[in-house]
Amino acid sequence: MSEKIPRHVAIIMDGNGRWARARDQPRVKGHEQGAEAVNRVTRACRARGVEVLTLYAFSEQNWRRPADEVTALMRLLLRYVRGQRREILDNNIRLTVLGDIDKLPLFVRAPLKALMKESAHNDGMILALALSYGGREELLRAVRAVAARAQRGELRAADIMEADFEAELFTAGWPDPDLLIRTSGEARISNFLLWQIAYTELYFTPIAWPDFDEAELDRAFEHYQGRQRRFGMTGAQIEAEGLIKAEETTL
Ligand code: IPE
Ligand code: IPE
Ligand code: MG
Repeated sequence: MSEKIPRHVAIIMDGNGRWARARDQPRVKGHEQGAEAVNRVTRACRARGVEVLTLYAFSEQNWRRPADEVTALMRLLLRYVRGQRREILDNNIRLTVLGDIDKLPLFVRAPLKALMKESAHNDGMILALALSYGGREELLRAVRAVAARAQRGELRAADIMEADFEAELFTAGWPDPDLLIRTSGEARISNFLLWQIAYTELYFTPIAWPDFDEAELDRAFEHYQGRQRRFGMTGAQIEAEGLIKAEETTL
């Protein structure tokens, strides 16, 4: 079994509300504990050499939740940005956002943008928060951008390549997720990174997000390390490729 660490880990952090309900607490308590899990998992990914950690924190569709829950989540986000600023900068982490950041209220958008700017040159790990994010919305946005380029005569519709399209995604220039984790027992994608997860290994765990920790992350990594990624080829082809690579590195 290879000990390969996934370069890009994406997490659908689900189950905060159910975690709180099971303890007779308001949903926001679950979100608060979820923020602690974010800190634990960020630290653990950084320590293991993950290059990109993308966290689904608030979907485009989550705006449909009751106003008091949305407000509580935005306040928590502000607390997170303020509270984690030092840790992010000290650990050479670049904070970035995927999604329609302009939809976030100014009181959180401003400090978030400031920290994105402050951390823009850090190269230890990318921490990408998906906020007001939807996969279909991201795809549409990219379609519009590529169509506009075609309309300006910069490229012909028939010449549009995957790379032209990927350049318009929030994840432009990053490797696709190697591992996608969803907590809390649901086995669905909920409009997350639809284009990027074409060949991603999926890992679903019943653990609620507020209980997710370093040991659970290692369990997910072990699952990942046990998979053979074939990308459409045969197992034998992949093994042969592995042998060639191993020979190259011992030369
Ligand atoms: C995930 O937990 C956090 C957000 C979607 C903001 P949920 O709030 O979805 O928790 P459940 O799924 O209701 O338990
Ligand atoms: C997905 O969780 C979004 C986040 C984790 C931020 P949801 O709880 O919103 O997903 P559904 O509604 O159960 O599919
Ligand atoms: Mg949920």
